[in-house]
Amino acid sequence: MTRVLFVCLGNICRSPAAEGVLRAKAKARGLSVIADSAGTGGWHVGDPPDDRMRAAALNRGYDLSAQRARQVSKDDFETFDYVLAMDASNLSDLQAIAPPGHNAIVRKLLGTDDVPDPYYGGDDGFDHVLDLVEVAVDALIAEVGC
Ligand code: 4NP
Repeated sequence: MTRVLFVCLGNICRSPAAEGVLRAKAKARGLSVIADSAGTGGWHVGDPPDDRMRAAALNRGYDLSAQRARQVSKDDFETFDYVLAMDASNLSDLQAIAPPGHNAIVRKLLGTDDVPDPYYGGDDGFDHVLDLVEVAVDALIAEVGC
């Protein structure tokens, strides 16, 4: 069973969307995968995903309402096979706390590109996140063969 953790800054916009998309795609295909998400920051711990992200996701059939934000921890590098950052800042924050000798694959979800933070922008930004995440999750499923 492949275990995947998606990480953004607040864990209320981008990484919850990625978690929901992977869960849904894995379920639809009958694949075994554990999907979770976390934030590098702790400001929103315990909060559900942002209303705008929940609405944009639900519009595509992804229900994020049961998710609650949490902060990433050192243990996550042992628990998860993949720790996937949404942008370069998230990745450098992860690399700064990664315990020595961990076995997780730590990289950006999109490889070279960033999933841009939609928090301070308009509604289009949330749909753009979903566009990027849906393609990336398809590629991830193909890569891990889960
Ligand atoms: P996320 O978006 O990292 O995709 O969850 C953000 C959510 C909240 C904040 C920043 C980004 N914030 O500054 O509170």
